[in-house]
Amino acid sequence: MALVNTKEMFKKAYEGGYAIGAFNVNNMEIIQGITEAAGELKAPVILQVSKGARAYANPTYLVKLVEAAVAENPDIPIVLHLDHGPSFEMCKACVDDGFTSVMFDGSSKPYEENVAEASKVVEYAHKYNVTVEAELGTLGGVEDEVSVEADKAMYTDPDQVQDFVKRTGVDSLAIAIGTSHGAYKFKPGQDPKLRLDILQEVADRLPGFPIVLHGASSVPQEFVKIINENGGNMPNAIGIPESELRKAAKMAVCKINVDSDIRLAMTANIRKYFHDHPDHFDPRQYLAPARQAVKEMVAHKIVDVMGCNGKA
Ligand code: G3H
Ligand code: 13P
Ligand code: ZN
Repeated sequence: MALVNTKEMFKKAYEGGYAIGAFNVNNMEIIQGITEAAGELKAPVILQVSKGARAYANPTYLVKLVEAAVAENPDIPIVLHLDHGPSFEMCKACVDDGFTSVMFDGSSKPYEENVAEASKVVEYAHKYNVTVEAELGTLGGVEDEVSVEADKAMYTDPDQVQDFVKRTGVDSLAIAIGTSHGAYKFKPGQDPKLRLDILQEVADRLPGFPIVLHGASSVPQEFVKIINENGGNMPNAIGIPESELRKAAKMAVCKINVDSDIRLAMTANIRKYFHDHPDHFDPRQYLAPARQAVKEMVAHKIVDVMGCNGKA
């Protein structure tokens, strides 16, 4: 199967009450770990690339690595998606490079600018059968070059969503309901809940329309523990409870973004490997268990959080 856009995938996910996992990729081991899990579980999957990942790995390498994953996993639909595209120009570059989905993130811009630029992206992308995600509302945490204080993060206003979707023509909408980027989403003692009431209000205003959750890593405590026991220092790293994400996946949420959990899986295993084998220096020796840990973590997400296993 060639790369696909998100249209059909999201329609089935919405109707089926599940979500598709959207995992950030920036090297071969991460791409292999994710797609081996999705392939074995017959799960549709979204591989997403940020501006920072493009700068790190070089867009040509990433596209070719993803094409290799598609060839190795011919039975599952795979989307190649631009994550947090900051401008029309970057979205256009990804469409031209063969991406099948792009996100234009104008969430930090004034509303009318967000509408205008998202519309321009949609007009270009749709000519090439590329689907477009946009965002309304501000998440806390750290994105490419932007750090948003948690108390400055703002929930999406359900009164804006109909106007935004109608005027831009976007195919899916990321909303802010209490998730945030990075490994420190809640402080100890806080109630780690999502505003599922806002999600429901948005869904009521946009029946059948796919909603996206960014900043949805659950920050597995077993990884944090391994990191801290092997020379790391990540006190109070706390994520979104998987039970909250599962509820959202059964509602209008069709795409759940996970990046920090991949970083934690890799880092925990590499730190432990070096602790246990201080004399080893062959990257294949420490990257193989890290890749395996990504695969196992993604398999768990597909089954227990997204519910998209067997939906390919
Ligand atoms: O939301 C941001 C993603 O986690 C990508 O992170 O910009 O550091 O590649 P990055
Ligand atoms: P996490 O930092 O929670 O993994 O969020 C990733 C994300 O939203 C990528 O766009
Ligand atoms: Zn994000």
